[in-house]
Amino acid sequence: MASKIAIASLIALSAASEGLRPWEAPGPDDLRSPCPMLNTLANHGYLPHNGRNISAQQFADAALEVVNIDGMAIKQVANYFLRAANQSFIDLTDLNRPGILQHIASLTRDDVKDPDSVDVSASQDRIHHLIQDSDTDCITVASLAKTRLHVEDLSSPQELTVKEQSLAYVEAGLLLLVMNDGPVPSGWSFPPATAYCAPKKRVETWLTEERFPEELGWKKSERTLGLVDFVPVIKGIFEEKRLQAGKGPLWKSFIPSFLQQETDTNSEL
Ligand code: HEM
Repeated sequence: MASKIAIASLIALSAASEGLRPWEAPGPDDLRSPCPMLNTLANHGYLPHNGRNISAQQFADAALEVVNIDGMAIKQVANYFLRAANQSFIDLTDLNRPGILQHIASLTRDDVKDPDSVDVSASQDRIHHLIQDSDTDCITVASLAKTRLHVEDLSSPQELTVKEQSLAYVEAGLLLLVMNDGPVPSGWSFPPATAYCAPKKRVETWLTEERFPEELGWKKSERTLGLVDFVPVIKGIFEEKRLQAGKGPLWKSFIPSFLQQETDTNSEL
């Protein structure tokens, strides 16, 4: 019986890995970025392994083929960077330049002080924190909100700009969606924030080794993930962050504080 299970697992494993190119650690001359996914794609050979001379189309093709994320959206992000950097092809280390896509208060990277820095290594402390921020076996909307508050605290008194804050939400959303256990709920079904679970071990392996953790059940989404699928996750992290920071729901910020006090007193009566 045990041998039958072992054979079945082996078959499942080889079927799951069918088509995924082998992982190879970056060599001393290979360049990498502050983005764990782009590094993973380069480590598996879906982007040039040396991390050099990459076009927006190559980013989009790789993300669509391996992760099944809307190629047009990825191309727009990449093009935004290429235009700002005034280049048609970039090296992965170019993405470490602050002020375009790279920002402070990252989930996995310490703040970059030197604008020419090529140090894109992940901080094991930050990854550890991200994992420990969840009391369950999953990274969740609530645990990511907690981690975002923590990393923003680490960067204080510096603050993210509105554009950077939005990017940070998208990145947290990307993490949860691409590592989610099972099919990602469609954004059109208005799933609750609790509908997402990215198994901790899977997230930790991905972020630490920058490879697709297939042996832990990772597989690409069967459905192409589009912008609408991000909405419930981003909204969830945003709201949860406000709650955890003791700010209450967003609607409260539109009501003058003296009126809020009155509403609160009335509701206590
Ligand atoms: C499947 C597509 C992608 C996924 C799943 C993904 C995922 C992520 C995640 C989770 C982070 C957060 C890392 C952290 O905070 O430490 C991140 C950061 C980043 N990503 Fe991506 N990414 C994708 C595509 C791209 C593309 C196409 C670009 C640009 C060409 C890009 C550029 C960046 C940069 C520059 C950062 C660093 C931001 C910072 O300073 O923290 N990513 N990405």
